[in-house]
Amino acid sequence: MSTANTPAAPQWSSRLGFILASAGSAIGLGAIWKFPFWAGANGGAAFIIPFIVFTMTVGLVLVAAEIALGRRGRGSTVSAMRRVGGRAWGLMGAFSVLTSFLILSYYAVVGGWCAAYLANAVTGDVVSNDPAALRAQFADLVSTDWKNLFWFAVFLLLTAATAALGVERGIERLAKYLMPTLFVLMVVLIVRGLMLPGAWAGVEYLFDFRWESVTAASIRDAMGFTFFSLSLGAGVLVTYGTYVPKSTSIPKASFWVAVLSIEAALLSGLMTMPAAFAFGLSPDAGPGLVFITVPMIFERIPAGGLFAVLFYVCLLVAALTSSVSLLEVVVAFLKNEWHFSRRAATVTSGALLFVLGSISALSFGSWSGFTLFGRSIFDCLDFICSNVMMPAGGLAVALLMGWKVWETTCTELSTPSGPGPAALELARVLLAYLSPILILATVYQGVFF
Ligand code: PHE
Repeated sequence: MSTANTPAAPQWSSRLGFILASAGSAIGLGAIWKFPFWAGANGGAAFIIPFIVFTMTVGLVLVAAEIALGRRGRGSTVSAMRRVGGRAWGLMGAFSVLTSFLILSYYAVVGGWCAAYLANAVTGDVVSNDPAALRAQFADLVSTDWKNLFWFAVFLLLTAATAALGVERGIERLAKYLMPTLFVLMVVLIVRGLMLPGAWAGVEYLFDFRWESVTAASIRDAMGFTFFSLSLGAGVLVTYGTYVPKSTSIPKASFWVAVLSIEAALLSGLMTMPAAFAFGLSPDAGPGLVFITVPMIFERIPAGGLFAVLFYVCLLVAALTSSVSLLEVVVAFLKNEWHFSRRAATVTSGALLFVLGSISALSFGSWSGFTLFGRSIFDCLDFICSNVMMPAGGLAVALLMGWKVWETTCTELSTPSGPGPAALELARVLLAYLSPILILATVYQGVFF
């Protein structure tokens, strides 16, 4: 860990290391697992176009604002907000710690599925030609309480162990090698998937724009997904920003995070949807979509069994780099505000997460009959986090960095090579005006409809 600049705070060892770690946080189950079935359920392009537009506008400036806030404020997301904005803003920081905690509780359930599929791949149990068998395999995993709980616990332990190793060693090294590998594997799966008879219908489904699919709910969900996929409004980028050296260009880093997360989502859509159509699965098959379709492509690739193992290793690591970033928010909070040691903070939050996350895990099994607002507990948590809590956290950052301390934001965003005054003006409009309006509309739609 290089501590040359400020001895008190650990820093990323390189600029690339920071970009990779932030992209590692952004790219995870959101892009690979959630995007295909949300896009499927919301009519394809009617969801994808607003997602891309939101990411490259509001999302991009919020990413930059969060990193700037962290770098200026230091400490945890709470102390950063307090130092930059004043006492009351610290409370919003605490709210994002809660958001991260809640997200991680159910994120780790899906992470557990990735671990389970890796185990299946190792034993040769995942490569199959039979959609019904694959559907049954997924249903068995999620609805058998002990299996779901076991793999959820495994994933949580992996997350805690990674976080306990500290910033650089734990996170940076993992992201550096396996993310590019995952991209390559996805391209191979896409190419093979597109060669299947009937696959192009999936591409058309994804990219054909149908006006009738555009609804207030699809746009709201695209906004919620933008927050989720960029890791916004949960204190993650603020916390990571606290480790960023002064010499790093925040706009450049933010741009790469946004572009890479769109790319990962589109690759995953292209990997999943054509295969789903080719094998006669419905595009809105729900959370099992990616787990059920991808194995059928492995079946058609030479050395598919080996390929499957490599794929699930990468998927698991992509999920881990995101879950570690969520845990890091909680750990940084406990360390800085409540003076826990890193180890005690990791163990305590891990134990609490196990209790809370078990409820989400069980909501696929013996508690599946229990619903809140017409959704299972898992879906309900995901909806509240993505469509209400993360946007609310983003709103606080937009108001703080776009209004209260805009001068400071400009200083943090500026480097000798840019951005110029016009670009900063545009960023101001996006951050101070457009983000609050869109966020309020999203939260309103989410809460009242
Ligand atoms: N962006 C991550 C993903 O897409 C999830 C995440 C959300 C991570 C919020 C951190 C904070 O998988």
